[in-house]
Amino acid sequence: MAAPIKVVVTGAAGQIAYSLLYQVASGAVFGPEQPVYLHLLDIAPMMGVLEGVVMELADCALPLLAGVLPTANPEEAFKDVSAAFLVGAMPRREGMERKDLLSANVRIFKEQGQALDKVARKDVKILVVGNPANTNALICSKYAPSIPKENFTAMTRLDQNRAQSQLAAKLGVPVKDVKNVIIWGNHSSTQFPDASNAIVTIGGAEKSVPKAINDDEFLKTTFVSTVQKRGAAVIAARKMSSALSAAKAASDHMRDWFLGTGDRWVSMGVVSDGSYGTPRDVVYSFPVTVSNGKWKIVQGLTISDFAREKLDLTGKELVEEKQDALDVCKD
Ligand code: NAD
Ligand code: LMR
Repeated sequence: MAAPIKVVVTGAAGQIAYSLLYQVASGAVFGPEQPVYLHLLDIAPMMGVLEGVVMELADCALPLLAGVLPTANPEEAFKDVSAAFLVGAMPRREGMERKDLLSANVRIFKEQGQALDKVARKDVKILVVGNPANTNALICSKYAPSIPKENFTAMTRLDQNRAQSQLAAKLGVPVKDVKNVIIWGNHSSTQFPDASNAIVTIGGAEKSVPKAINDDEFLKTTFVSTVQKRGAAVIAARKMSSALSAAKAASDHMRDWFLGTGDRWVSMGVVSDGSYGTPRDVVYSFPVTVSNGKWKIVQGLTISDFAREKLDLTGKELVEEKQDALDVCKD
């Protein structure tokens, strides 16, 4: 059995963590042979609740769980970690956009960037879940200059999973038979869920999703807006933001980053290198493949005029958010 790796989950007393911790500790993320030592960070007033979570983890009797460290101190939490799930942040409520959380949450990611910079492993893989996730990831990276930019990512996997599930339902196939749907841009209502390169397996043969659906209008309108507004729809129904599906998506993202994707595409928010004419130096979601722990943007895709407009719109929002966030961080 391998030596345990240290994995931190922030917001560990919150609702996403409540689902995520079991997945990480049971082997669903780092594999069935990889023990984990869990560092659990939350704020001081939540330490009592966190103690209950620690009790429940113990009561799960999980063979891969090598130890648990609950703490309210970021430098203790991030010490020597190989993987960081940055979940801890305020969630939005009904009627809010995710960027309305920026002034409340972005400072958390400035502070945590500084702490990661000081004490984390330099090869730590960081997934930002707390909203607005793309811009928080960018700020975290800016305040952790000793850690490569490539190690900071934001979660758009929930949007990808939502998109894949919508397409599978429309096609009447199991979700596993749909692949290569893309989420471009921001984890916000300007994101562009793009089915134009998606593939479905029907009767053992692969087929283009747009051809199989044969309804361009659906793919350009209902499909796009359903995925863009899904987070808000869950909040309207649950009166709380998505948690079960968010935790599953965080597990999917980190698992694929550590263990690889093969030739399957997944969407990750990464620091943009300007691919596809997108703005550089914002955290933009692209289709990527992963091997040996390194992600690579899928290149050479055709961008239609319709897609171009959508890619530009979400890019513009990210540039604006970045400026707002940098202003907040100056204070
Ligand atoms: P929650 O309120 O249930 O839990 C958040 C936890 O974070 C709380 O326990 C809180 O005390 C803690 N926290 C606050 N400040 C902290 C800090 N500085 N350090 C450590 N912990 C801190 O919220 P939740 O439902 O778990 O959601 C967490 C975040 O994830 C929200 O911002 C939400 O909008 C976001 N989210 C993102 C996605 C995505 O797809 N990217 C999906 C769902 C939710
Ligand atoms: C989601 O997409 O469900 C989360 O980002 C929560 C939200 O605020 O929509």
